Amino acid sequence: MHSSTMVKEDPSDTGIELKQGVSNTGFQHEEAAQVDCAECGSSEDPGETTYTQVKPYVGMPKEVLLLYSRQACYRVPREILFWLCVALTLALIAVTVAVVVLSPRCLSWWQTSPVYQIYPRSFMDSDNDGVGDLRGIIQKLDHFEYLNIKAIWISPFYKSPMKDFGYDVEDFRDIDPLFGTMQDFDDLLAAMHDRGLKLIMDYIPNHTSDKHIWFQLSRNRTQNYEDYYIWANCTPTKPPNNWVSIFGNSSWTYDEVRGQCYLHQFLKEQPDLNFHNPTVVNEMLAVLQFWLEKGVDGFRMDAVKHLLEAPHLRNEPQVDPNQPPETVDTEFELYHDYTTSQPGLHDIIRGWRVEMDKYSREPGRYRFLVTECYDYEEIYKTMMYYGTPYIKESDFPFNFYLLYLPDHMSGQGAFDLVDLWMSNMPQGKWPNWLVGNHDKPRISSSAGSEYTRVINMLLLTLPGTPTTYYGEEIGMENVNVTDIQDPFGKFNPNSSRDPQRTPMQWSPMENAGFSTNKTWLPVHPDYKTVNVEIQKNESRSVLQQYRALSQLRETELPLHRGWMCYVWSDANVFAFLREMDGFPRAFLMVLNFGSDAVIDLSAVSELPLELTVRLSTHSIEPGTQIRKSTIVTKRGEGLILEYTSHQRFHLGHASKCYVSEKACYLSALNILYSC
Ligand code: GLC
Ligand code: MG
Repeated sequence: MHSSTMVKEDPSDTGIELKQGVSNTGFQHEEAAQVDCAECGSSEDPGETTYTQVKPYVGMPKEVLLLYSRQACYRVPREILFWLCVALTLALIAVTVAVVVLSPRCLSWWQTSPVYQIYPRSFMDSDNDGVGDLRGIIQKLDHFEYLNIKAIWISPFYKSPMKDFGYDVEDFRDIDPLFGTMQDFDDLLAAMHDRGLKLIMDYIPNHTSDKHIWFQLSRNRTQNYEDYYIWANCTPTKPPNNWVSIFGNSSWTYDEVRGQCYLHQFLKEQPDLNFHNPTVVNEMLAVLQFWLEKGVDGFRMDAVKHLLEAPHLRNEPQVDPNQPPETVDTEFELYHDYTTSQPGLHDIIRGWRVEMDKYSREPGRYRFLVTECYDYEEIYKTMMYYGTPYIKESDFPFNFYLLYLPDHMSGQGAFDLVDLWMSNMPQGKWPNWLVGNHDKPRISSSAGSEYTRVINMLLLTLPGTPTTYYGEEIGMENVNVTDIQDPFGKFNPNSSRDPQRTPMQWSPMENAGFSTNKTWLPVHPDYKTVNVEIQKNESRSVLQQYRALSQLRETELPLHRGWMCYVWSDANVFAFLREMDGFPRAFLMVLNFGSDAVIDLSAVSELPLELTVRLSTHSIEPGTQIRKSTIVTKRGEGLILEYTSHQRFHLGHASKCYVSEKACYLSALNILYSC
């Protein structure tokens, strides 16, 4: 028996004498090196031999290394280590899978931020020609940082003869000189992306300008272009059928050059493209690609329900069958069975979605799609733009129903309109809310300015994405415009859209700081007090409150992805709560859309006796305690009350509650999980 520490005394026996007396044991004979491995304990395999005369050393050749590596003292720990690694890897994979499976989906940028609509003619004029422009928008990007807004939709700035102020596009791949150049656009997009802002463009597929090259080629019957638009035989005085334009009068205009009528669902200078022609579908898809390549983050699809018309061109039924047909000249006098929402429409939108999804794969580069469609009482038609659980269309169709709020100013009215959307929206979809745009009167004028604040509070505390039309954050109002610019207003002055399109009110300076020279529409006379600069310095201004709401919406989990439950509605007050399982804080919104009122929520056992004011549109200080039995609100006042409760309201009131995608909070780890 050799001791494991024993070293051969005469190295020359088994090895080769090296420089300075070091022997290379690597050359010793195998038999001579075979000893038991006392250091490692006895070998379990009686036949196993070990090599201990010399220790392993750096630089030993492979053959020697292999001799050592077979020894139990090396093999066993090695195998233990190996299996440990395998087990750890498997455990890591299991944990990763569990986290992926259990995590709720992350919200995308169009869900976390409100969308802000810029009407570029009126936002900021950098070259003082009286019309806003792209460089003007670049100058004002700080405003969005201030408002905590990340998603900006800019109404059209394509090259256009401006008959419908940009909604009549002459070239889908160029910028109108009034707004700037393609370089200005590239600079704007880069400046926005640098700040983490997303740019949503208007996409106008239904029609072009009559100055568009396609229309010129089509009216001349140039090969391949003949069917780019919708042509029908007619005489200069007798249109092919009774169809009327949205802007009034027949939707057909006789074209001298081609000797036929072309269809236009809007102005005669906006001929409708023929989406039954696959070449047109592809042309318009290529337009999308052009801007997606540039890095545009999303599109607002204009007037989608008008994309297709029935090829049979039959008369549409009159709403009043007894009305003399020759007097029918507005959209509300016909049922639009053949000119709106035609079969095939949703396939086109799905095609856009598929294209946009190709550009959405990079993390954080999701391309957002919102559709514009007014379906009035046929809300189910609007909901179809959400797509099906398996076939995606828009991320959401714009929800225009809160535009009716001024006609139903009451707590009950607000509840009804909110519930109209929520109860019709397909399960799991994402809601959205707006109270104005470039086509509709400003809400502060139609609802009354005393309700401006509470309406902003409603928008920013409901589940889903709010859209804010420029100026709503300071409570801008309609302007009385006598020299009408809007083509729709020229047809029907009561429908003029000029009042809501006036210059943004930035400061008390001349022209409200919008332009130093002139303005294309008059500035509201209230601009000396209603403007961004002044309101930034007023602690209780509409602007400051908007900002606080936007911050609260982002920072408080239950507000951006928790349950929403209806708690109360009456003639004056609409109240709802936002809560999330496992999250300590919950919020109760008490919003007054009527007159001064007191409500008693004692019966709501899930609420604690006292709640804390987090935000008030009026003078109640944050931190004030309010008893649930006597919640007082003034006309137009909104309160956000914070409370802690471990009893969740939604558990006992499923029919009054809604959530897009369930998520629970684990406070111990500060994580969200699907539940
Ligand atoms: C949309 C736009 C509107 C425009 C119309 C025609 O409804 O919002 O401003 O006039 O389409 O393009
Ligand atoms: Mg300008």
